[in-house]
Amino acid sequence: MSAHPTALLLILGFLATAPCLHAETGEEGWLRYAPLPAQAAQQYRNVPHSIVAPGQSVIARSAAEELVRGLHSMLGTSLQITSTLAGEDSFVVGTAAEVRQVLPGWKLTAPIPAEGFAFSRFAANGHNYWIVAGGSDRGELYGVFHVLEQVGQEKALPSAAEAPSSPIRWVNQWDNFDGSIERGYAGRSIFFDQGHVRSDLHRVSEYGRLLASVGINGATVNNVNSDLRTLDPEMIHELARIADAFRPWGVRMSLSIDLSSPQVVGHLPTFDPVNPAVAAWWRRKADEIYRVIPDFGGFVIKADSEGRVGPSKYHRTPAQAANAVARALRPHGGVVLYRGFVYNNHLDWHDLKADRARAGYDNFRALDGSFEPNVIIQIKHGPIDFQVREPVSPLFAALRHTNQAIELQITQEYTGQQRHMVFPVPMWKVALDTDLRAENRYTPVSEIVEGKTFHRPLGGFVGVANIGLDSNWLHHPMAMANLYGFGRLAWNPDLTTHEIIDSWTRLTFGNDPKVLFVIDGLQENSWRVYELYTGPLGMGTLTNILGIHYGPGIESAERNGWGQWFRADNKGIGMDRTVATGTGYIGQYPPQLAKVYESLDTCPDSLLLFMHHVPYNYVLHDGKTLVQYVYDSHYEGAALAGSYPSRWETLRGRIDDQRYWQTLALFQYQAGHAIVWRDAVTKWFQNISGIPDKLGRVGHYPDRIEAEAMQPDGYTTVDVTPWETASGGKAVVCNRATPCTLTAKPGRPEGTYSIGVRYFDLRTGVSQFDLMVNGKSVARWSADATLPPAAMDAHLDGSTSTLFTAPGVYLKPGDTVTLRGTPNGEEPAPVDYIELVKK
Ligand code: GCU
Repeated sequence: MSAHPTALLLILGFLATAPCLHAETGEEGWLRYAPLPAQAAQQYRNVPHSIVAPGQSVIARSAAEELVRGLHSMLGTSLQITSTLAGEDSFVVGTAAEVRQVLPGWKLTAPIPAEGFAFSRFAANGHNYWIVAGGSDRGELYGVFHVLEQVGQEKALPSAAEAPSSPIRWVNQWDNFDGSIERGYAGRSIFFDQGHVRSDLHRVSEYGRLLASVGINGATVNNVNSDLRTLDPEMIHELARIADAFRPWGVRMSLSIDLSSPQVVGHLPTFDPVNPAVAAWWRRKADEIYRVIPDFGGFVIKADSEGRVGPSKYHRTPAQAANAVARALRPHGGVVLYRGFVYNNHLDWHDLKADRARAGYDNFRALDGSFEPNVIIQIKHGPIDFQVREPVSPLFAALRHTNQAIELQITQEYTGQQRHMVFPVPMWKVALDTDLRAENRYTPVSEIVEGKTFHRPLGGFVGVANIGLDSNWLHHPMAMANLYGFGRLAWNPDLTTHEIIDSWTRLTFGNDPKVLFVIDGLQENSWRVYELYTGPLGMGTLTNILGIHYGPGIESAERNGWGQWFRADNKGIGMDRTVATGTGYIGQYPPQLAKVYESLDTCPDSLLLFMHHVPYNYVLHDGKTLVQYVYDSHYEGAALAGSYPSRWETLRGRIDDQRYWQTLALFQYQAGHAIVWRDAVTKWFQNISGIPDKLGRVGHYPDRIEAEAMQPDGYTTVDVTPWETASGGKAVVCNRATPCTLTAKPGRPEGTYSIGVRYFDLRTGVSQFDLMVNGKSVARWSADATLPPAAMDAHLDGSTSTLFTAPGVYLKPGDTVTLRGTPNGEEPAPVDYIELVKK
């Protein structure tokens, strides 16, 4: 919405009183290098003014130049880069071998791993040297970012030695060549447009810099649902330009490929992976790629999944397919990330033993040990698909002779699509910290994917990022914490949520303790809050899985082949995945953990409905019945989301206007949308269970006047589907060219009210609304929000439902409230209800 009257007043008032903080777009992410206050800068007064940087590679050059840029911006220091010592205090930035050549007396206490770094100070020849030594030029770059990150956070610079947890630290981008991004919520692709690589790739270099700053060393740039032209010779030449843009930041480009490429691109009669002609084709293709992209990372393969072809066509296994491709890449140092996301999306809903969650383990376990050494199985952290809560995939414990990487989703497909703030690091930590008890010992997922547990040479972390052309990369100013957090966890999964978010906030919004307190607190709890008002207890997110995965659409998960069922009837809910009576999924976990999940006594409530089918009056560990917990959690979650705007408002004047207002608008939207979620889920549960809310809230909204109950002029009533996504299951629409009105005499006691108008904001037009009391306008706004989906979807439902609030409206018992809606384009100024809340 735009032209919120109160927002405008607030902006004007703010501009008059607040210190002038220049507007920031968020484009720099956490690499803003904001100038430090003089007092904080004091601790760095001895920082040298020159950098000795003997390395010649493009990455080494990036490292030295970044140090100049960052220190200049934060401390005002001008540094000169030289290649030899110049008789003054200086930074020495290079690989360990290079540093030793410059300073022969300098000794390492321990060798530096290939991508690690060591920072130390060393005195020689009467001068102080600040040494950033890398195990390679990439390590050197990471060391520089470490120094800059410490300074940006006003922290001391003690000696430090770090190395990444594992070699695979990649992002995946699901970008299509036409410039769209599958499950991308922040604009179009930075890589592609209209079937080609963009001519201007400056955002790609900036992205590479952000990735490198948190230690990410690889990026797969095209959709896992790969375009069949990806391996065309012309396309490879275009793609090489992306690799060039990433190279100075040590980010190796990789590609998602379709297994049918030998047939589609190579015109062979088959793509059967064991066919020698197919294997030879892959070898020639790999040679061709490495000729133009010498540091090419490898291939990501989605096969036999969601309509993609795969080895099953020839009755071959994923191992045979992965190996044919991997053998071609191996001489060049490339890897295959073969996705464990292989499942049948035409399951029989009537079959009580059918279970999509079983698929990963069932498809891959028997292949353990049969993959080439440069194959890594890329496994989504949960067995379904990035729901708000899932257990970890049991496949992690089942592959003991196979490399593995965990796939995490940075883009918020099922968690609010960057219109809701959800910081997933706490969720990822739950997954990474889960002790699977493989071989009856301590085997947390983090150590398995690091390769430590089963002594695997390769492994790591893949994050589906889907940044876009939006100036701040991910749309919500808070969402860059997700990308940052992914990188930091991939580097070191033992970092705590607080350590990660606190660094991000400091670098992104500054070191003001009040700013840190508010933002850290909001972010740290945001996943939990979102879970409370969407799908708690492990029942799935409850979003419309057949549509855009955004607003509530509860039953969309049931009675179809997708297998995201929760099997609700009027007696109970939940998937029985027990070994005793259910699908047997729980038996895929090692015995000690299986025992915990199998028993209702020990299964954690957070996963209850993922593992068990129980009646609605089943008593949870906290003593509440299941259905009452659902009611309470949704009211609690929506109330917490409702507190975001006022908590954010305490930061007025402490951060720049642009990000302040942008975030406030998103929080106001989220607060309103959390109510749609709350009402939809609670009404649905009350309806199916027949058990009322003990506190009488569900289905009783005394402050509301339904639009269909108001006096219409031109407005007509329509059904909303699914019914639970509109109050009363109905809305009104204005299907004529001239404005329509809704009028009511609320007859409320005299006083000041905030009047909420719940309407639907479609992308098919920009309707205008005018709210009037006794014919006098109290608020006007336009329905022009950029809600997901980015594509047109003209449904009135829980994805498009939006709340506008006019605060401080004075009403007397005889007053008339009128809402005038002016339709525009294909948007019929749809309204759900108005709500009058007395102050
Ligand atoms: C999800 C997502 C798809 C994606 C798929 C995958 O199902 O909705 O858009 O292609 O995951 O990870 O392959």
